[in-house]
Amino acid sequence: MLMMIFAWLSLFPTTLLSPPKYLWSTTTAQGFSIAFMSIYWFFLQDFNFADSLFFIDKISGPLAILTCWLFPLTLLASQSKISLEPINRQRSYIANSTFLQLTTLLAFTASDLMLFFVFFEASLVPTMIIIARWGAQERRLEAGMYIAFYTMLGAVPFNLYLTKIYSTHGSLLPTLMFTFSINQQSTNYPGLFWLMLNVAFLVKLPLYCLHLWLPKAHVEAPIAGSMVLAGTLLKLGGYGILRTSIFLQEDTLNSTLFLMLIAILGILATALLCLRQTDLKSLIAMSSVSHMNLVVVAALISTQWSYSGAMVMMIAHGLTSSALFCLANTAYERTNSRTMVLLRGSMLIFPLANAWWLIVILFNMAIPPTPSFISELLIMISLFNWSPLAFLVVALNLVFTTAYTLYVLWSTQRGPLPNHLKTLFPFHIREHILLFSHILPGLLLILKPELILL
Ligand SMILES: *[C@@H]1O[C@H](CO)[C@@H](O)[C@H](O)[C@H]1NC(C)=O
Repeated sequence: MLMMIFAWLSLFPTTLLSPPKYLWSTTTAQGFSIAFMSIYWFFLQDFNFADSLFFIDKISGPLAILTCWLFPLTLLASQSKISLEPINRQRSYIANSTFLQLTTLLAFTASDLMLFFVFFEASLVPTMIIIARWGAQERRLEAGMYIAFYTMLGAVPFNLYLTKIYSTHGSLLPTLMFTFSINQQSTNYPGLFWLMLNVAFLVKLPLYCLHLWLPKAHVEAPIAGSMVLAGTLLKLGGYGILRTSIFLQEDTLNSTLFLMLIAILGILATALLCLRQTDLKSLIAMSSVSHMNLVVVAALISTQWSYSGAMVMMIAHGLTSSALFCLANTAYERTNSRTMVLLRGSMLIFPLANAWWLIVILFNMAIPPTPSFISELLIMISLFNWSPLAFLVVALNLVFTTAYTLYVLWSTQRGPLPNHLKTLFPFHIREHILLFSHILPGLLLILKPELILL
Protein backbone atom coordinates (compact mmCIF):
# COMPACT_ATOMS: atom_id res chain seq x y z
CA MET A 1 0.00 0.00 0.00
CA LEU A 2 2.91 2.30 0.71
CA MET A 3 3.94 1.71 -2.88
CA MET A 4 0.57 3.04 -4.01
CA ILE A 5 0.90 6.10 -1.81
CA PHE A 6 4.37 6.84 -3.19
CA ALA A 7 3.10 6.41 -6.72
CA TRP A 8 0.41 8.97 -5.96
CA LEU A 9 2.86 11.35 -4.30
CA SER A 10 5.15 11.10 -7.32
CA LEU A 11 2.45 12.88 -9.30
CA PHE A 12 3.16 16.13 -7.47
CA PRO A 13 6.78 16.53 -8.73
CA THR A 14 5.61 15.55 -12.21
CA THR A 15 2.94 18.22 -12.09
CA LEU A 16 5.28 20.91 -10.82
CA LEU A 17 8.33 20.13 -12.93
CA SER A 18 7.21 18.80 -16.29
CA PRO A 19 7.63 21.20 -19.22
CA PRO A 20 4.42 23.10 -20.07
CA LYS A 21 4.08 21.45 -23.43
CA TYR A 22 3.95 17.94 -21.99
CA LEU A 23 2.19 18.75 -18.73
CA TRP A 24 -1.14 17.11 -19.56
CA SER A 25 0.24 14.15 -21.46
CA THR A 26 2.75 13.19 -18.76
CA THR A 27 0.32 13.56 -15.88
CA THR A 28 -2.42 11.67 -17.71
CA ALA A 29 -0.04 8.89 -18.67
CA GLN A 30 1.21 8.67 -15.12
CA GLY A 31 -2.36 8.66 -13.84
CA PHE A 32 -3.23 5.75 -16.11
CA SER A 33 -0.16 3.79 -15.06
CA ILE A 34 -1.08 4.35 -11.40
CA ALA A 35 -4.61 3.20 -12.14
CA PHE A 36 -3.41 -0.01 -13.80
CA MET A 37 -0.91 -0.57 -11.02
CA SER A 38 -3.63 -0.13 -8.43
CA ILE A 39 -5.85 -2.68 -10.14
CA TYR A 40 -2.96 -5.12 -10.27
CA TRP A 41 -2.02 -4.44 -6.65
CA PHE A 42 -5.54 -4.79 -5.27
CA PHE A 43 -6.11 -8.02 -7.13
CA LEU A 44 -2.79 -9.31 -5.87
CA GLN A 45 -4.06 -8.77 -2.32
CA ASP A 46 -7.32 -10.48 -3.22
CA PHE A 47 -9.22 -7.71 -1.40
CA ASN A 48 -7.90 -9.09 1.81
CA PHE A 49 -5.23 -6.98 3.40
CA ALA A 50 -4.95 -5.45 6.83
CA ASP A 51 -2.24 -3.79 8.82
CA SER A 52 -2.32 -1.07 11.42
CA LEU A 53 -2.66 1.68 8.80
CA PHE A 54 -4.47 0.26 5.80
CA PHE A 55 -7.37 -2.08 5.46
CA ILE A 56 -8.54 -3.49 2.17
CA ASP A 57 -11.57 -5.72 2.02
CA LYS A 58 -14.54 -6.26 -0.24
CA ILE A 59 -16.00 -2.90 0.76
CA SER A 60 -12.97 -0.67 0.42
CA GLY A 61 -11.12 -2.47 -2.39
CA PRO A 62 -13.50 -1.81 -5.30
CA LEU A 63 -14.06 1.78 -4.20
CA ALA A 64 -10.31 2.35 -3.98
CA ILE A 65 -9.84 0.98 -7.49
CA LEU A 66 -12.65 3.23 -8.69
CA THR A 67 -10.89 6.24 -7.14
CA CYS A 68 -7.60 5.41 -8.83
CA TRP A 69 -9.32 4.79 -12.13
CA LEU A 70 -11.26 8.04 -12.13
CA PHE A 71 -8.20 10.21 -11.65
CA PRO A 72 -6.70 9.96 -15.18
CA LEU A 73 -10.24 10.32 -16.54
CA THR A 74 -10.71 13.64 -14.75
CA LEU A 75 -7.47 14.82 -16.31
CA LEU A 76 -8.63 13.69 -19.74
CA ALA A 77 -11.93 15.45 -19.30
CA SER A 78 -10.64 18.81 -18.12
CA GLN A 79 -7.83 19.26 -20.63
CA SER A 80 -9.51 21.40 -23.22
CA LYS A 81 -10.93 24.00 -20.81
CA ILE A 82 -8.07 24.26 -18.35
CA SER A 83 -5.19 24.21 -20.82
CA LEU A 84 -6.20 27.66 -21.98
CA GLU A 85 -5.28 29.10 -18.58
CA PRO A 86 -1.84 30.32 -17.45
CA ILE A 87 0.57 27.47 -16.81
CA ASN A 88 0.80 27.95 -13.04
CA ARG A 89 -2.93 27.68 -12.68
CA GLN A 90 -2.93 24.50 -14.73
CA ARG A 91 -0.30 23.09 -12.43
CA SER A 92 -2.22 23.98 -9.29
CA TYR A 93 -5.41 22.55 -10.82
CA ILE A 94 -3.73 19.21 -11.44
CA ALA A 95 -2.08 19.30 -8.02
CA ASN A 96 -5.40 20.00 -6.38
CA SER A 97 -7.18 17.19 -8.22
CA THR A 98 -4.37 14.82 -7.30
CA PHE A 99 -4.69 15.88 -3.71
CA LEU A 100 -8.45 15.37 -3.80
CA GLN A 101 -8.16 11.85 -5.18
CA LEU A 102 -5.38 11.02 -2.76
CA THR A 103 -7.41 12.05 0.30
CA THR A 104 -10.39 10.09 -0.99
CA LEU A 105 -8.23 7.02 -1.59
CA LEU A 106 -6.74 7.30 1.89
CA ALA A 107 -10.19 7.66 3.40
CA PHE A 108 -11.33 4.49 1.66
CA THR A 109 -8.30 2.48 2.70
CA ALA A 110 -7.47 3.83 6.16
CA SER A 111 -8.00 1.16 8.78
CA ASP A 112 -8.29 3.36 11.83
CA LEU A 113 -11.72 4.97 11.97
CA MET A 114 -10.34 8.27 13.22
CA LEU A 115 -7.91 8.33 10.32
CA PHE A 116 -10.83 7.59 8.01
CA PHE A 117 -12.69 10.49 9.58
CA VAL A 118 -9.74 12.85 9.12
CA PHE A 119 -9.39 12.05 5.43
CA PHE A 120 -13.16 12.09 4.97
CA GLU A 121 -13.12 15.69 6.13
CA ALA A 122 -9.84 16.54 4.42
CA SER A 123 -11.32 15.74 1.03
CA LEU A 124 -13.56 18.74 1.57
CA VAL A 125 -10.65 21.19 1.24
CA PRO A 126 -9.57 20.38 -2.33
CA THR A 127 -13.22 20.00 -3.36
CA MET A 128 -13.94 23.50 -2.13
CA ILE A 129 -10.81 24.88 -3.79
CA ILE A 130 -11.73 23.26 -7.09
CA ILE A 131 -15.33 24.46 -6.97
CA ALA A 132 -14.57 27.97 -5.77
CA ARG A 133 -11.48 28.52 -7.88
CA TRP A 134 -12.39 26.90 -11.19
CA GLY A 135 -16.17 27.03 -11.19
CA ALA A 136 -17.80 28.91 -14.02
CA GLN A 137 -20.21 31.35 -12.40
CA GLU A 138 -20.22 33.69 -9.45
CA ARG A 139 -22.57 31.49 -7.43
CA ARG A 140 -19.76 28.98 -6.98
CA LEU A 141 -18.79 30.64 -3.68
CA GLU A 142 -22.26 29.98 -2.33
CA ALA A 143 -22.00 26.37 -3.49
CA GLY A 144 -18.68 26.04 -1.69
CA MET A 145 -20.21 27.44 1.51
CA TYR A 146 -23.12 25.00 1.30
CA ILE A 147 -20.95 21.93 0.89
CA ALA A 148 -18.62 23.02 3.70
CA PHE A 149 -21.34 23.77 6.22
CA TYR A 150 -23.43 20.69 5.52
CA THR A 151 -20.42 18.41 5.77
CA MET A 152 -19.02 19.95 8.91
CA LEU A 153 -22.31 20.03 10.79
CA GLY A 154 -22.86 16.37 10.01
CA ALA A 155 -19.39 15.47 11.19
CA VAL A 156 -19.78 16.54 14.81
CA PRO A 157 -21.82 13.62 16.23
CA PHE A 158 -19.70 11.02 14.49
CA ASN A 159 -16.55 12.54 15.93
CA LEU A 160 -18.06 12.51 19.42
CA TYR A 161 -19.03 8.89 19.03
CA LEU A 162 -15.56 7.88 17.85
CA THR A 163 -14.04 9.63 20.85
CA LYS A 164 -16.34 7.75 23.16
CA ILE A 165 -15.56 4.36 21.61
CA TYR A 166 -11.88 5.10 21.81
CA SER A 167 -12.09 6.02 25.47
CA THR A 168 -13.94 2.81 26.36
CA HIS A 169 -12.20 0.28 24.10
CA GLY A 170 -8.86 1.92 23.41
CA SER A 171 -8.94 1.20 19.69
CA LEU A 172 -10.76 2.23 16.56
CA LEU A 173 -9.68 -0.55 14.24
CA PRO A 174 -12.69 -2.21 12.57
CA THR A 175 -10.82 -5.54 12.40
CA LEU A 176 -10.40 -5.52 16.17
CA MET A 177 -14.01 -4.60 16.79
CA PHE A 178 -15.05 -7.39 14.52
CA THR A 179 -12.84 -9.96 16.21
CA PHE A 180 -13.93 -9.06 19.73
CA SER A 181 -17.46 -8.35 18.49
CA ILE A 182 -17.49 -4.99 20.17
CA ASN A 183 -20.74 -3.31 19.38
CA GLN A 184 -23.05 -0.70 20.66
CA GLN A 185 -25.10 -1.65 23.72
CA SER A 186 -28.78 -1.06 23.25
CA THR A 187 -29.84 2.53 23.75
CA ASN A 188 -33.18 4.03 24.62
CA TYR A 189 -33.59 5.55 21.16
CA PRO A 190 -31.90 3.19 18.69
CA GLY A 191 -33.30 5.02 15.68
CA LEU A 192 -32.02 8.36 16.84
CA PHE A 193 -28.72 6.71 17.63
CA TRP A 194 -28.46 5.30 14.11
CA LEU A 195 -29.23 8.70 12.68
CA MET A 196 -26.68 10.50 14.82
CA LEU A 197 -23.96 7.96 14.12
CA ASN A 198 -24.54 8.13 10.40
CA VAL A 199 -25.60 11.70 9.86
CA ALA A 200 -22.14 12.63 8.55
CA PHE A 201 -22.52 9.96 5.89
CA LEU A 202 -26.16 10.68 5.20
CA VAL A 203 -25.21 14.27 4.42
CA LYS A 204 -22.44 13.12 2.13
CA LEU A 205 -24.50 10.47 0.39
CA PRO A 206 -26.91 12.58 0.44
CA LEU A 207 -30.17 11.56 2.03
CA TYR A 208 -33.18 13.41 0.64
CA CYS A 209 -33.73 16.62 2.67
CA LEU A 210 -30.00 16.84 3.37
CA HIS A 211 -29.20 16.98 -0.32
CA LEU A 212 -29.53 20.70 -1.03
CA TRP A 213 -25.81 21.23 -1.37
CA LEU A 214 -25.43 18.63 -4.09
CA PRO A 215 -27.17 20.16 -7.13
CA LYS A 216 -25.54 23.50 -6.35
CA ALA A 217 -22.07 21.99 -6.07
CA HIS A 218 -22.54 19.99 -9.26
CA VAL A 219 -23.87 22.86 -11.28
CA GLU A 220 -21.08 25.19 -10.24
CA ALA A 221 -18.16 22.75 -10.24
CA PRO A 222 -15.83 22.35 -13.22
CA ILE A 223 -15.94 18.96 -14.90
CA ALA A 224 -13.29 17.31 -12.74
CA GLY A 225 -15.14 18.46 -9.64
CA SER A 226 -18.43 17.03 -10.85
CA MET A 227 -16.88 13.75 -11.89
CA VAL A 228 -15.10 13.25 -8.59
CA LEU A 229 -18.10 14.40 -6.60
CA ALA A 230 -20.46 11.98 -8.31
CA GLY A 231 -17.91 9.24 -8.77
CA THR A 232 -16.19 8.92 -5.43
CA LEU A 233 -17.03 11.60 -2.88
CA LEU A 234 -20.67 10.54 -2.54
CA LYS A 235 -19.47 6.98 -2.11
CA LEU A 236 -17.50 8.01 0.97
CA GLY A 237 -20.88 8.31 2.66
CA GLY A 238 -22.06 4.87 1.58
CA TYR A 239 -18.70 3.42 2.52
CA GLY A 240 -18.94 4.99 5.97
CA ILE A 241 -22.39 3.52 6.59
CA LEU A 242 -21.31 0.05 5.51
CA ARG A 243 -18.10 0.30 7.51
CA THR A 244 -19.69 1.43 10.76
CA SER A 245 -22.57 -1.04 10.43
CA ILE A 246 -20.52 -3.54 12.45
CA PHE A 247 -21.20 -1.45 15.54
CA LEU A 248 -24.92 -1.92 15.19
CA GLN A 249 -25.48 -5.63 15.30
CA GLU A 250 -28.94 -5.41 16.77
CA ASP A 251 -31.86 -4.88 14.48
CA THR A 252 -32.58 -1.18 14.21
CA LEU A 253 -34.87 -1.40 11.22
CA ASN A 254 -38.09 -0.87 13.14
CA SER A 255 -36.79 2.23 14.87
CA THR A 256 -35.39 3.80 11.72
CA LEU A 257 -38.66 3.66 9.86
CA PHE A 258 -38.82 7.44 9.56
CA LEU A 259 -35.48 7.43 7.75
CA MET A 260 -36.74 4.67 5.51
CA LEU A 261 -39.77 6.78 4.73
CA ILE A 262 -37.64 9.82 3.90
CA ALA A 263 -35.36 7.75 1.70
CA ILE A 264 -38.22 6.10 -0.19
CA LEU A 265 -39.98 9.41 -0.69
CA GLY A 266 -36.65 10.89 -1.72
CA ILE A 267 -36.12 8.26 -4.39
CA LEU A 268 -39.50 9.03 -5.93
CA ALA A 269 -39.39 12.79 -5.45
CA THR A 270 -35.96 13.26 -7.00
CA ALA A 271 -36.77 10.91 -9.87
CA LEU A 272 -39.89 12.99 -10.53
CA LEU A 273 -37.92 16.23 -10.19
CA CYS A 274 -35.56 14.96 -12.88
CA LEU A 275 -38.48 15.02 -15.28
CA ARG A 276 -38.87 18.74 -14.70
CA GLN A 277 -35.24 19.83 -15.08
CA THR A 278 -34.06 21.86 -18.02
CA ASP A 279 -30.47 22.03 -16.87
CA LEU A 280 -28.55 18.92 -17.86
CA LYS A 281 -26.08 19.01 -14.99
CA SER A 282 -28.67 19.49 -12.29
CA LEU A 283 -30.71 16.65 -13.79
CA ILE A 284 -27.74 14.33 -13.45
CA ALA A 285 -27.19 15.58 -9.90
CA MET A 286 -30.84 14.87 -9.04
CA SER A 287 -30.59 11.39 -10.51
CA SER A 288 -27.53 10.85 -8.31
CA VAL A 289 -29.61 11.74 -5.27
CA SER A 290 -32.26 9.27 -6.38
CA HIS A 291 -29.75 6.46 -6.80
CA MET A 292 -27.99 7.22 -3.56
CA ASN A 293 -31.24 7.14 -1.61
CA LEU A 294 -31.64 3.62 -2.86
CA VAL A 295 -28.30 2.94 -1.20
CA VAL A 296 -29.71 4.40 2.04
CA VAL A 297 -32.71 2.09 1.78
CA ALA A 298 -30.41 -0.87 1.22
CA ALA A 299 -28.22 0.10 4.16
CA LEU A 300 -31.29 0.41 6.40
CA ILE A 301 -32.56 -3.04 5.51
CA SER A 302 -29.11 -4.34 6.43
CA THR A 303 -29.11 -7.88 5.14
CA GLN A 304 -26.31 -9.53 3.24
CA TRP A 305 -28.07 -9.09 -0.08
CA SER A 306 -28.98 -5.49 0.43
CA TYR A 307 -25.42 -4.63 1.42
CA SER A 308 -24.17 -6.35 -1.73
CA GLY A 309 -26.74 -4.39 -3.71
CA ALA A 310 -25.59 -1.13 -2.13
CA MET A 311 -22.00 -1.95 -2.97
CA VAL A 312 -22.71 -2.76 -6.62
CA MET A 313 -24.94 0.32 -6.84
CA MET A 314 -22.13 2.54 -5.63
CA ILE A 315 -19.61 1.21 -8.14
CA ALA A 316 -22.06 1.21 -11.05
CA HIS A 317 -23.35 4.65 -10.23
CA GLY A 318 -19.79 5.96 -9.83
CA LEU A 319 -19.01 4.97 -13.38
CA THR A 320 -22.26 5.95 -15.06
CA SER A 321 -22.83 9.31 -13.40
CA SER A 322 -19.24 10.29 -14.05
CA ALA A 323 -19.73 9.31 -17.69
CA LEU A 324 -22.95 11.33 -17.84
CA PHE A 325 -21.15 14.38 -16.50
CA CYS A 326 -18.46 13.89 -19.15
CA LEU A 327 -21.11 13.79 -21.84
CA ALA A 328 -22.77 16.87 -20.41
CA ASN A 329 -19.39 18.56 -20.41
CA THR A 330 -18.66 17.72 -24.03
CA ALA A 331 -21.94 19.41 -24.88
CA TYR A 332 -21.17 22.33 -22.59
CA GLU A 333 -17.77 22.92 -24.14
CA ARG A 334 -19.38 23.18 -27.54
CA THR A 335 -22.50 25.20 -26.86
CA ASN A 336 -21.51 26.94 -23.60
CA SER A 337 -24.91 26.11 -22.22
CA ARG A 338 -26.27 23.40 -19.99
CA THR A 339 -29.79 23.73 -21.32
CA MET A 340 -30.94 20.47 -22.79
CA VAL A 341 -33.25 21.69 -25.53
CA LEU A 342 -30.39 23.59 -27.15
CA LEU A 343 -28.81 20.24 -27.92
CA ARG A 344 -31.80 18.81 -29.74
CA GLY A 345 -30.84 17.04 -32.91
CA SER A 346 -27.20 16.65 -32.03
CA MET A 347 -27.49 12.98 -32.93
CA LEU A 348 -27.37 13.98 -36.58
CA ILE A 349 -23.99 15.64 -36.38
CA PHE A 350 -22.38 13.56 -33.59
CA PRO A 351 -23.52 10.00 -34.38
CA LEU A 352 -20.75 8.26 -32.43
CA ALA A 353 -21.32 10.49 -29.43
CA ASN A 354 -24.95 9.53 -29.68
CA ALA A 355 -23.89 5.90 -29.32
CA TRP A 356 -22.03 6.80 -26.10
CA TRP A 357 -25.10 8.63 -24.85
CA LEU A 358 -27.27 5.63 -25.57
CA ILE A 359 -24.94 3.19 -23.81
CA VAL A 360 -24.46 5.37 -20.75
CA ILE A 361 -28.16 6.06 -20.50
CA LEU A 362 -28.95 2.38 -20.72
CA PHE A 363 -26.45 1.78 -17.92
CA ASN A 364 -28.12 4.48 -15.84
CA MET A 365 -31.53 3.01 -16.53
CA ALA A 366 -30.37 -0.41 -15.23
CA ILE A 367 -31.10 -2.39 -18.33
CA PRO A 368 -30.69 -6.12 -17.59
CA PRO A 369 -27.11 -7.27 -17.87
CA THR A 370 -25.58 -4.06 -16.49
CA PRO A 371 -24.17 -3.80 -12.96
CA SER A 372 -26.88 -1.27 -12.03
CA PHE A 373 -29.45 -3.91 -12.84
CA ILE A 374 -27.73 -6.41 -10.57
CA SER A 375 -27.73 -3.90 -7.76
CA GLU A 376 -31.35 -2.91 -8.23
CA LEU A 377 -32.35 -6.56 -8.35
CA LEU A 378 -30.56 -7.30 -5.08
CA ILE A 379 -31.97 -4.23 -3.36
CA MET A 380 -35.51 -4.78 -4.62
CA ILE A 381 -35.49 -8.42 -3.54
CA SER A 382 -34.36 -7.50 -0.04
CA LEU A 383 -36.95 -4.76 0.03
CA PHE A 384 -39.69 -7.16 -1.00
CA ASN A 385 -38.58 -9.54 1.70
CA TRP A 386 -38.96 -6.74 4.24
CA SER A 387 -42.22 -5.22 3.08
CA PRO A 388 -44.12 -5.83 -0.17
CA LEU A 389 -45.76 -2.42 0.17
CA ALA A 390 -42.43 -0.61 0.24
CA PHE A 391 -41.40 -2.74 -2.70
CA LEU A 392 -44.41 -1.57 -4.70
CA VAL A 393 -43.69 2.07 -3.93
CA VAL A 394 -40.02 1.79 -4.85
CA ALA A 395 -40.96 -0.14 -7.99
CA LEU A 396 -42.53 3.11 -9.20
CA ASN A 397 -39.02 4.49 -9.17
CA LEU A 398 -38.08 2.10 -11.96
CA VAL A 399 -40.80 3.65 -14.10
CA PHE A 400 -39.72 7.19 -13.28
CA THR A 401 -36.04 6.39 -13.85
CA THR A 402 -36.84 4.98 -17.25
CA ALA A 403 -38.96 8.02 -18.00
CA TYR A 404 -36.36 10.61 -17.13
CA THR A 405 -33.46 8.80 -18.76
CA LEU A 406 -35.46 8.55 -21.97
CA TYR A 407 -36.35 12.21 -21.54
CA VAL A 408 -32.64 13.06 -21.42
CA LEU A 409 -31.96 11.01 -24.50
CA TRP A 410 -34.87 12.48 -26.44
CA SER A 411 -34.34 16.08 -25.49
CA THR A 412 -30.61 16.10 -26.11
CA GLN A 413 -30.24 13.84 -29.12
CA ARG A 414 -33.33 13.50 -31.23
CA GLY A 415 -35.22 15.99 -33.31
CA PRO A 416 -34.47 18.08 -36.40
CA LEU A 417 -31.00 19.57 -36.70
CA PRO A 418 -31.08 23.28 -35.82
CA ASN A 419 -28.72 25.74 -37.47
CA HIS A 420 -26.80 26.70 -34.35
CA LEU A 421 -25.45 23.17 -34.03
CA LYS A 422 -24.06 22.91 -37.54
CA THR A 423 -20.85 24.80 -36.79
CA LEU A 424 -19.78 22.89 -33.69
CA PHE A 425 -16.35 21.29 -33.73
CA PRO A 426 -16.34 17.49 -33.89
CA PHE A 427 -15.48 15.09 -31.08
CA HIS A 428 -11.81 14.54 -30.28
CA ILE A 429 -10.22 11.12 -29.92
CA ARG A 430 -9.56 12.20 -26.33
CA GLU A 431 -13.28 12.42 -25.65
CA HIS A 432 -13.97 9.05 -27.21
CA ILE A 433 -11.21 7.47 -25.11
CA LEU A 434 -12.64 9.19 -22.06
CA LEU A 435 -16.12 7.78 -22.57
CA PHE A 436 -14.85 4.39 -23.59
CA SER A 437 -12.79 4.09 -20.42
CA HIS A 438 -15.90 4.86 -18.39
CA ILE A 439 -17.92 2.20 -20.14
CA LEU A 440 -15.26 -0.50 -20.33
CA PRO A 441 -15.17 -1.27 -16.56
CA GLY A 442 -18.96 -1.47 -16.57
CA LEU A 443 -18.90 -3.92 -19.44
CA LEU A 444 -16.22 -6.02 -17.76
CA LEU A 445 -18.22 -6.08 -14.54
CA ILE A 446 -21.12 -7.59 -16.44
CA LEU A 447 -18.89 -10.58 -17.07
CA LYS A 448 -17.68 -10.90 -13.49
CA PRO A 449 -20.06 -9.14 -11.09
CA GLU A 450 -18.92 -11.21 -8.07
CA LEU A 451 -15.84 -8.99 -7.91
CA ILE A 452 -17.87 -6.23 -6.31
CA LEU A 453 -20.43 -8.32 -4.45
CA LEU A 454 -19.89 -8.32 -0.72
C1 LIG B 1 -4.70 24.31 -4.98
O1 LIG B 1 -4.98 25.53 -5.61
C2 LIG B 1 -4.64 26.67 -4.85
C3 LIG B 1 -5.16 27.91 -5.56
O2 LIG B 1 -4.89 27.92 -6.89
C4 LIG B 1 -3.13 26.70 -4.64
O3 LIG B 1 -2.74 27.83 -3.92
C5 LIG B 1 -2.72 25.43 -3.90
O4 LIG B 1 -1.32 25.34 -3.79
C6 LIG B 1 -3.24 24.17 -4.60
N1 LIG B 1 -3.11 23.04 -3.72
C7 LIG B 1 -2.29 22.03 -3.97
C8 LIG B 1 -2.30 20.89 -3.03
O5 LIG B 1 -1.55 22.04 -4.91
